[in-house]
Amino acid sequence: MAEIQMKHMYKKFEDGVVAVKDFNLDIKEKEFVIFVGPSGCGKSTTLRMIAGLEKISDGELWIDGKCMNEVPSCDRDMAMVFQNYALYPHMSVYDNIAYSMKLKKVPKKEIKKRVEEVAKKLGLSEVLDRKPKELSGGQKQRVAMGRAIVREPKVFLMDEPLSNLDAKLRTHMRGEISKLYQELGSTFIYVTHDQVEAMTLGTKIVVLKDGEIQQVATPRELYEQPENLFVAGFIGTPPMNLFEGACVPVNGVLHIKIGDALFPLPEQTAERLRRKDYINQEIVIGIRGEDIRLAADGAMESKVEIYEMLGDHVYLYFTYNGQKVSVRVPADTTVQREDIVRVTFDMEKIHLFDKFRGKRI
Ligand SMILES: Nc1ncnc2c1ncn2[C@@H]1O[C@H](COP(=O)(O)OP(=O)(O)O)[C@@H](O)[C@H]1O
Ligand SMILES: [Mg+2]
Repeated sequence: MAEIQMKHMYKKFEDGVVAVKDFNLDIKEKEFVIFVGPSGCGKSTTLRMIAGLEKISDGELWIDGKCMNEVPSCDRDMAMVFQNYALYPHMSVYDNIAYSMKLKKVPKKEIKKRVEEVAKKLGLSEVLDRKPKELSGGQKQRVAMGRAIVREPKVFLMDEPLSNLDAKLRTHMRGEISKLYQELGSTFIYVTHDQVEAMTLGTKIVVLKDGEIQQVATPRELYEQPENLFVAGFIGTPPMNLFEGACVPVNGVLHIKIGDALFPLPEQTAERLRRKDYINQEIVIGIRGEDIRLAADGAMESKVEIYEMLGDHVYLYFTYNGQKVSVRVPADTTVQREDIVRVTFDMEKIHLFDKFRGKRI
């Protein structure tokens, strides 16, 4: 069992930096929770407060109905995998993995059995005698995982465990971590700055910015219903196109106006804007590149500046009203760089945001 609750948690460092602000989150047993956000947003600090490596300045951390604020790290039944792996350089792989069990005075035979099991699971059986410096990056990463697994913790905490690996190995290890999560059935809390890693691994994603939670949602919800402009711009590659525009009535029909381009709104969206008093107001309109289509009668016209072939599809980039726009089109498109194109939006897929508060309308 491991249910974790964070209630109004703050971290204020001695130099006055407030790294985490009013952090509230419930983590259920066996969830795979991701903290994602740009560098410096407080991901590691939050994880370290959960691990007990950093004192909680204010608020409370509860695990399985017990307040943990004053419980030392070693009594929290968690194992942490760090970005730099933190292996003991003078010890063999075997001893690195066995270390925590030796400290706990587990019988030698039992230790050997556990180390061999874990090494087999992680593909380390052939390198148990080696020292960390004789291992590849991927192998070191696995030893760090092995060291966490043998402790059979209630909760696994991982701080950017893949960020030192090259892209191909990172994708591979992402799959391995997913598999491990399925097998172990423990609670995972995983920190990354990489939104792709977050989207592919997590069942619940916590997006952070400047020490504050922006949104907690499934990968799908984050993509389809970003709560604010920050999340809209952070999740997805290339990022969502965001335009400053306005909501205007034309001949009795509510439209979105971006520069000179007018797009009629579906009735349901129009109704929402009327109800919330956005008529004739400036708003921000978001649309993903895959929800824009080339169309001879499209309301937005521009010249293609970049043509990016990505195998099964192409991204076209142009500028409209001072704003860079990405459009995803099929790979067999005849459009080329320098062509004048017209596009239209799938209006069911637009995202609307309050220009001043940045919140989803
Ligand atoms: N020991 C510390 N003393 C003072 N400030 C710190 C300390 N550790 C981290 N910070 C600051 O707290 C903020 C959050 O840091 P961190 O949690 O490491 O971010 P992330 O892991 O998201 O990159 C940053 O502004 C960082 O400079
Ligand atoms: Mg960090």
